[in-house]
Order: sequence, then C-alpha cells, then structure tokens
Amino acid sequence: METTHRVVVGDARELSAVDDDSVELVVTSPPYPMIEMWDELFTELDPAIGTALEDGDGRAAFEAMHAQLEAVWDELERVLVDGGIACINVGDATRTLDGSFRVYPNHARVLEAFEARGFDPLPDVLWRKPANSAAKFMGSGMIPPNAYVTLEHEYVLIFRNGGESRSFEPGADRRYEAAYFWEERNRWFTDVWTEVRGELQALGDDHEELRERSAAYPLEIPYRLLCMYSTYGDTVLDPFWGTGTTSLAALCAGRNSIGYELEDAFRKVFADRVADVPELSRAIGRRRLERHREFVAQRRREGDEPSYEAAYYDTPVMTKMEREIRFREVSGLDPLADGDGYRATHEPLVE
Ligand SMILES: C[S@@+](CC[C@H](N)C(=O)[O-])C[C@H]1O[C@@H](n2cnc3c(N)ncnc32)[C@H](O)[C@@H]1O
Repeated sequence: METTHRVVVGDARELSAVDDDSVELVVTSPPYPMIEMWDELFTELDPAIGTALEDGDGRAAFEAMHAQLEAVWDELERVLVDGGIACINVGDATRTLDGSFRVYPNHARVLEAFEARGFDPLPDVLWRKPANSAAKFMGSGMIPPNAYVTLEHEYVLIFRNGGESRSFEPGADRRYEAAYFWEERNRWFTDVWTEVRGELQALGDDHEELRERSAAYPLEIPYRLLCMYSTYGDTVLDPFWGTGTTSLAALCAGRNSIGYELEDAFRKVFADRVADVPELSRAIGRRRLERHREFVAQRRREGDEPSYEAAYYDTPVMTKMEREIRFREVSGLDPLADGDGYRATHEPLVE
C-alpha cells in the first residue's frame, strides 16, 4: 500500500490545492484566539485585531480572530466528503485586558460556527493536560470570592459534514483491517481522556520543547482520531499543520495526508521528525499488540477467555469485528517529485 503526504505552504483561508469532496477527515488545532502567543499572527491576518487589543477591546478582538478561523471552516465544508468528520482541538483562553480578567470560550464559539455551516456536532472529547505543580494556584490566595479556576483541559470538538454517515461496500477489507481492539474502543470513545501522553510518549513523542514552541499537540491525539474516524487509504487534512503532527500520525496509521501551513520553516522540522517514521510506525503497532496481550492476560486472570482468534496475529480478541485487525508499518519513504511532501510505502506488520 502507498500513501502520499503533501504540504502546502499557504493560507488555509483558501484551500485552492484541495478539490471539493476529496478529504474524508480533518484533524487540526488552530491558533487559539486570545492566547497571547498568537496575537501577532492574527494581527497579520487582520490588522484590526491589533488595534482592538491595543484598545483593550477583548470582545472585538475575540470576534475578529474567530472570523479568520471561520474562513477556514467554510473551506472544510467544501473539501470534506459527505459524512466526513472534522475534529477540532481547541482550548479556551483566560486573559486580563484593560484591568479585567475573563475567559474567552473558544470551544463554544467554534461549535457555533460549525453548526451555522450545517455540520452536525457529535459528542466531543475533553482531554486533560498534565497538572504539574501547586504553583499554578499562586496569586489566587485562600480568601473568597475573587479567585479563578485554572484551565487544565482542552477539547476535541467533533463534527460530521452533511446529514448522513459514510457508507462502504459490504466486507470492505480496508475498513475491517483498520479495526481497533475492544479495550481500545473503551478507552478512545470515552469523553474524558486523561492519558494522552501515556501511550505513545515512550515511542518518539517526546519533543517537549518543540511542542511548547510550536503549540504542537501530542501525537496520541491525532493518531487516536485517525484510527477512530477514518480507514486505510483515506485522506486527512490539517489546515493548521504546524510541525506536521497530524501527518506523522497519518504516516503511522496508513492514511494519506495534506497540510496547509503559513510558516515555511516548519517543513524542515517535519523533515527531521519524518526520519523516525519507519521505526515509529513499527513501534506503535507492536505497542498496541503488547497492550492488547496484557489486557488478554488480565481477562484470563479474571477467568474470562476472549471468544475469537485474530486472523493475522497470535492473540485472541473479544469480538468478531476485531478479527481482521492488521497494522501497517512504513517500509519506504521518498520525497515527492515536486519536493512538496513524501510518498510512503506500507507493509503489513508481521511478528
Ligand atoms: C496550534 S499550531 C498547530 C500545531 C500543530 N498541530 C502541530 O502539531 O505542530 C497552529 C498553526 O497554524 C498556522 N496557521 C495559522 N493561521 C493559518 C492560516 N490561515 N493558514 C495556514 N496556517 C495557519 C500557524 O502558523 C501554526 O503553525
């Protein structure tokens, strides 16, 4: 199996390199309105934003920043197939402007914007960022009533384009081979994720400093979402590509990807990250199998033997739907002829 991973250095408010109805899944994390690190970028997109911030007019700045994101949301409606899914990772912002502290509820504003464009909202995920120290409460004191709750979660908002789910030909291999384990379903389809750094961090997702500089999300987030909402051979788009974590996840999961990014410099960062992909994709498949076997061993200790045998791996599985699970590893990676991305060859992971 082959996949392609294209990167366009350009403005996602116009996705002119992406055809209508050509993308099955969007996984992305926009710059968060009212988080200071993005003020400059938003002001470049619309100078009125800088003026609103200077005037201390938080409401106007917030609205104008979301207007920039909305131009991208308009494009998603065009490029997503009917029944295609958009997963938007976003956090709220707290900020003091003109002496007044408040929260700017980005998640609510993005939800409204997608609904207004005819997308159907689906149940969303809230993920907890690791809380690292008691210092975060400093300044709030111990006397009521003027302290504020600390924001320690972000959202993955999930939308379906058009009224109906995607349909597939009966018995489509690419769908059954892309199945996930029963216990993964139980972890992934829960609405609060507490361990998003846990599963893949030991496998190369440990660029902590890089993540802070570029606001990259943990690999675990796009990887899970790709496994949950697409099948082998699908195409995932990230209009706010950054350092390409979504494309890295797509390479490991055997999906095609397209990214749009304003900053040319991030392509070099991605080129460094991509060198690890053959090893990373193999390690992720092996890790999933290893965790599954730990789960089976635990069930057995509890006196419960899973009922089915996997077709490609030496392990039992809980349900008939998991029998065809087959992981893919990247066996070859070549730059595309125009230099704007990579072509990957994937082989089934064998043990
Ligand atoms: C929060 S970061 C994304 C980080 C990414 N998920 C990663 O893992 O590295 C948002 C990115 O969107 C880019 N961006 C913002 N507005 C854009 C636009 N209109 N078109 C293309 N890229 C844009 C920024 O340059 C930034 O790299």
